Amino acid sequence: MVEAGTPGASWRFSDPEDCTKEAQRVLRQNDRGGYTVPTPNIYPFQWNWDSCLVALGWVTFDETRAWQEIESLFIGQWPDGMVPHIVFHRDDPGYFPGPDIWGTASLWGDRLAVPTSGISDPPLAATIALKLWRGARDQQQAKAAVERLYPKIAAWHRWFHTARDPAQDGMVAILHPWESGRDNSQDWDAALSRVPTDDLPPFQRRDLDRVDAAQRPRKEQYERYLSLILTFRGKGYEPKAIYEASPFRMVDIGTVAILLRADRDLRVLAETLGYREDLVEIDRWIARGESALDRLWDETAGVFRSYDLISGGFTDAITSASFLPFYGGGVKPERCTRMVEVLERWGTQSSYPVPSFDPGDQRFDSLRYWRGPTWAIVNHMIAEGLTGCGHEGWAARIAGATARAIRQSGFWEYFDPITGRGLGGDDFTWTAAMWLAWARDFSPPNDSSEDAA
Ligand code: DGY
Repeated sequence: MVEAGTPGASWRFSDPEDCTKEAQRVLRQNDRGGYTVPTPNIYPFQWNWDSCLVALGWVTFDETRAWQEIESLFIGQWPDGMVPHIVFHRDDPGYFPGPDIWGTASLWGDRLAVPTSGISDPPLAATIALKLWRGARDQQQAKAAVERLYPKIAAWHRWFHTARDPAQDGMVAILHPWESGRDNSQDWDAALSRVPTDDLPPFQRRDLDRVDAAQRPRKEQYERYLSLILTFRGKGYEPKAIYEASPFRMVDIGTVAILLRADRDLRVLAETLGYREDLVEIDRWIARGESALDRLWDETAGVFRSYDLISGGFTDAITSASFLPFYGGGVKPERCTRMVEVLERWGTQSSYPVPSFDPGDQRFDSLRYWRGPTWAIVNHMIAEGLTGCGHEGWAARIAGATARAIRQSGFWEYFDPITGRGLGGDDFTWTAAMWLAWARDFSPPNDSSEDAA
């Protein structure tokens, strides 16, 4: 029997070159002139961490466009440094909650060029800017872009380390599940149950017009997402007020790891550009991030975990974000070994690692968004981190599995980690970008067998 996703099985792209052409077409199709929408039918605006990762796809065939992708994101930066998770450059009725619900348009008077959401996203910009700069063919263009971006990115990091870490101990909080990017992860179940849903106005979700409900968050989660937004809006998004008022105050292991990596990369940018006066402050952020990471290590489970600042304990979930400290860097070798043991176990239970949730846990759901499916972007970050700590074999295995899922199914938002079936939105920009930037290098060669679709 030919296993799905191995050479000889039914491929959507039997020739990797066709896959590459199609990935470029997806980026061009979703380009709105300077920014790329994740997929027009479900997400018709600019998303923050999407754009950072999508720049890695653009740069493989249009370096200028890659820089634009990052720079356009900062058009939505708030005067206090926060970079919102959605920038509503143009109106579109096809998404809920749109700019009218967020109510940020008049918040900063004419100091904000476009309406935005009122929460942030995992901070990838420093890491991506450094990567683009290092690989740039046009060094002059790259240096000019980084010079424009550096003060904006530094202000965003400062916002994380102050607004979201009032205790100044590195336990940087997210106040909404969307800020983790892993919206309906089991990591957030217990904390979300504290969020009140009485007195919510009636609302109409738009995501279910396009995606099977079995692949999306449930109604009770959406009610809580909305309730948090309305609480923050009621407090004018004032950082201290919303930090104190939020019943959801979580230290997301993914955000802590990504921020730590980004702080290290920001330090390199500061040094290279001559911002020596910033180094003391950045070093303090890095030290705090390392100490937070240490607190988030669970010796019993042999992985890192997210933490609930209100209940004062770890969440009861092990998710793909538990492996993102590989990407953050600096994990002790003995801890890397323990984490790889967990990956080994997960690998026996899923053919397309890394599932977003422990496949051995009874709450695992291979179809439902962040409750089991595998995501190319997270796989890319985990694999890059694994390479950095000497586990190239596992890095290649994850990349190969991601390439197979894409060759087999196409550029889906996420994939069933058991079968490789595509789920969520199709023609998805960041999945196409991950093919271009990474997975294609690990793809099996052209399959000329009779079985190829
Ligand atoms: C959504 O609408 O599903 C997004 O993930 C929120 O940012």
